[in-house]
Amino acid sequence: MKNYLTCGLLSAALLMMAAVANAGVKRIDLPPDGVQLKASSLPGYEKARLACVACHSAEYMQYQPPTAARPYWENMVKRMKAVFNAPLNDADIPDIVDYLVKTYGNEQAK
Ligand code: HEC
Repeated sequence: MKNYLTCGLLSAALLMMAAVANAGVKRIDLPPDGVQLKASSLPGYEKARLACVACHSAEYMQYQPPTAARPYWENMVKRMKAVFNAPLNDADIPDIVDYLVKTYGNEQAK
């Protein structure tokens, strides 16, 4: 029993040493990051980049109905904050909603 334990600890230590030894050599190529938010000169763009794509990609915005109006987006942003603790200040919500509705909702430039 004791031998098993020692053996297990030893191999764990060896594995860790191997991992450390390889640290400089191993390369992990991640797939390209998910969908990014559409760039915009609206002030809400930078704010949304900080507050809205930490947990999921912008794909979620992309899949919302383009007919969605301002109150829909406002509820969405508020829900992200209330339910999932999205890190955003209430003062930034109007800018973010403005960006979202003009970029993904029914106020898009045609
Ligand atoms: C703390 C993590 C987190 C942050 C930050 C966050 N979200 Fe989400 N969001 C989620 C989760 C979890 C879901 C999936 C919820 C579900 O399936 O109901 C989601 C789903 C969505 C959806 C899909 C529609 C839906 O009703 O589920 C949209 C659109 C969305 N988020 C927009 C936003 C926007 C806009 C922001 C920035 C204000 C934001 N999210 C920030 C966690 C987050």
